Amino acid sequence: MKSLKTNLDSNAVYLPSDTVQKKAYISSLDAYLKMYHTSIEDPIEFWKKISAQFFWKSKPTGPFLSYNFDLKKGPIFTKWMEGALTNVCYNLVDRHVQDGYGDKIAYYWEGNEPDEQKQITYQALLKEICKCANVLKALGIAKGDRVAIYMPTTIEAIVVMLSCARIGAIHTVIFTGFSADALATRIIAAKAKLLVTANGTFRGTKFIPLKSIATQALIQCKAANHPLNDCIVFNRLQTMKRREGIPDIPWDDSIDRSWETLMASASDVCEPEWMDAEDPLFILYTSGSTGKPKGVLHTSGGYLLYAATAFKYAFDYHPEDLFFCSGDLGWITGHTFNVYGALACKTTSVLFDGIPTYPDGGRFWDLIDRYKVTTFYTAPTALRTLMQLEPIYVTKYSRASLRILGSVGEPIDPSTWNWFYEIVGEKRCPIIDTFWQTETGAPIICPLPGATPLKPGAATLPFWGIVPTIVNDNGVEIIGEGQGHLVVKNPWPGIARTLDGSHERFTSTYFAPYNGYYYTGDRAKRDADGYFWIIGRTDDMLNSSGYLISTAEIESALMQHPSVAEAAAVSAPHATKGESIHCFIVLKHKWSYNHIIESEIKSIVRHKLGAFAVPDLIYPVPALPKVGSGKIMRRLLRKIVRQEVYLGDTSTLVDQSIVNQLRALTLNKVKIF
Ligand code: WTA
Repeated sequence: MKSLKTNLDSNAVYLPSDTVQKKAYISSLDAYLKMYHTSIEDPIEFWKKISAQFFWKSKPTGPFLSYNFDLKKGPIFTKWMEGALTNVCYNLVDRHVQDGYGDKIAYYWEGNEPDEQKQITYQALLKEICKCANVLKALGIAKGDRVAIYMPTTIEAIVVMLSCARIGAIHTVIFTGFSADALATRIIAAKAKLLVTANGTFRGTKFIPLKSIATQALIQCKAANHPLNDCIVFNRLQTMKRREGIPDIPWDDSIDRSWETLMASASDVCEPEWMDAEDPLFILYTSGSTGKPKGVLHTSGGYLLYAATAFKYAFDYHPEDLFFCSGDLGWITGHTFNVYGALACKTTSVLFDGIPTYPDGGRFWDLIDRYKVTTFYTAPTALRTLMQLEPIYVTKYSRASLRILGSVGEPIDPSTWNWFYEIVGEKRCPIIDTFWQTETGAPIICPLPGATPLKPGAATLPFWGIVPTIVNDNGVEIIGEGQGHLVVKNPWPGIARTLDGSHERFTSTYFAPYNGYYYTGDRAKRDADGYFWIIGRTDDMLNSSGYLISTAEIESALMQHPSVAEAAAVSAPHATKGESIHCFIVLKHKWSYNHIIESEIKSIVRHKLGAFAVPDLIYPVPALPKVGSGKIMRRLLRKIVRQEVYLGDTSTLVDQSIVNQLRALTLNKVKIF
């Protein structure tokens, strides 16, 4: 990094424009480098200064930072500010109200229908949180208890998250695209004592029966000896004008409680619980390569510092900005940028509970114009869908308020990057491509508006306090230009502390592969300018429409169909989804493949995981390519569906003839996008 030149290669786009630069906290590459070096040379001093901007009831009782990334020296751990007492909700809301910003809008919320709107000030948000905290307490929820949230992207969902933070309960938000099975698995794994859901919602014209799904999940929980006493149901449908396709909604008085009734009688005063900086704040499940979801655990102090700092600098946030992140609350993007980072910085955000193509493909740009959004953050998969539509959907809106555009979730290919930059931002707005993971808490590699010259498709340079590097298969660090496994050398405040219930799995997933480093599971290239380009996952994960899904999860769902003897799932590039899901199945003796089986298989995946994991293509094949030990050679299947000519070393295959058979079978079906 020291060698980083200020004259970069010819791909570099010297942006942002003057207006961004004039305003920016960090307005040149030199200024970035200076601050970056301070952050890695003396991380304790650096983060101490940042921590002073937040409220702490008491100081750390031990070292500001302690950690071990070296398995040879003992267990892996990271601790920031241990012993310091704080409350995250207090820092996000009370602090601003006390400072006189109670009337500032925290959220402009817009539902699926463009005429469904709400707004809430910081003062009103605080009251709602206190009421909900009292509701939780009355239901017996106390510090350390787990609360599962299965709600659409609404102000009410945020109220539940922050009321948990207020009383020291640990929330686990489960994405509403997940099926009843997936919801039950996560409720059980998290040992949740309470579920908060909504009666239903619409995504475009499609009704999502959240309460029916929740009821099915609770039946499964009961069968697995994990009974829950209470399920709070928010009446999301009450204000919805769209009514078509709403079926009867199940209700069981012995367990279901009405959100509206409970909230109506709750007091709006609730003292925050003072928590240790290292106490858990939330658990968020992410796919694991073994198929079992991983409960990524974040703690109070470190996550707060990192989420807030990343929000401030990555989006160059100023008090008059209007921030719009299209991410769902069920993912880390929603947690960090719709909730924790944004509120910590006293932001006004647009919260959107709809889809970009409803009622038409101009929805994002319409929202941007109506709310005068300055900073718009979304995923490449949404952009790829929108860029295929007529340009008029974008150009009929002015987008004049936009200053900064951001991208997250998957690599943004240069043509999507250019469309975002040229058409949406009219070359005025930098594209902030943020690389991060559920486990990193907030971006770890991203440009800073005003400071970092951009390169279409590159995540660019590390954020404060992050020392990323690349290593080869043997764990040897690659110096300078090259390609390898992306790892991080040092701890930062927002790193996940463990996987809930399995520190062993945490260690083996993130630290054992390359001792001494945090392993991201991604491959990356570093160019001559020191810029990082994320290539994609190296493990058995695929990224479809921004959803990280493990091939093992899909395969175990495929195997549930009575006809399937063996299954393998791989990905291929896709024009809008980034990656599409291709599945190979070997049928059991006497079964023959037909459309009924195909739709049954797809419906199993939909039920087990959710619609986002349904295979795009299924190939019934006579056998799978295997090595001597019986392991399926997925990399070969991946190359076959990508129609690559060179398949690499196949000498360990038991049956060489299978390669040509598979090629022939897939050739007719594979659509090159
Ligand atoms: C991928 C999402 C390239 C990556 C915040 C990572 C990206 C996984 C980018 C984490 C990006 C995320 N460029 N790839 N800007 N951002 N990824 O946990 O493979 O849902 O490991 O967190 O998404 O997905 P997760």
